[in-house]
Amino acid sequence: MKGIVSCFLTALFWCAAPAAAQDDGKALVERTCSKCHSLTSTLKQRNTAEAWSAIVDDMIGRGAEGSDADFEKIINYLAKNFGPRVKVNKASAQELAGALEIPLAIKSFEDLKSAPALEGKNIEDKKDRLDFAAPQ
Ligand code: HEC
Repeated sequence: MKGIVSCFLTALFWCAAPAAAQDDGKALVERTCSKCHSLTSTLKQRNTAEAWSAIVDDMIGRGAEGSDADFEKIINYLAKNFGPRVKVNKASAQELAGALEIPLAIKSFEDLKSAPALEGKNIEDKKDRLDFAAPQ
């Protein structure tokens, strides 16, 4: 499981998953995770990748069925779409970069321009991850 977590953490922070993989994850969650309870309260949660991974492990223990690859996609989808909110006015550069998928090692203006999050649509997708409360 450790391998899976670090692998998908990498994917979470440095790659924008293609839309097809997203749909896949959503369909898998709907199919796999709604067998025993509704998804309403599950999808109100916002958890880190590690916490989603632990929850999914717990659900496997309770009898959730699927392949390792399915569960990897499920964790990936949940962490990406139901991850913790980042307080924009309080977050460290690292937290903000992680949430917006801006690579940390930006060496040139070209790097910055090619950051996926800086294309309008991609940042729109991340809207729910951002909390604009004023700093205290
Ligand atoms: C085999 C039945 C089963 C399946 C399939 C299942 N769950 Fe659960 N889940 C449960 C049970 C039972 C509880 C209630 C646990 C409790 O009350 O402590 C629960 C509770 C939860 C909770 C609340 C736990 C908490 O601590 O907040 C979350 C979140 C959750 N499930 C997510 C999922 C996800 C994501 C999937 C798909 C990977 C899934 N479940 C699939 C049985 C299942």
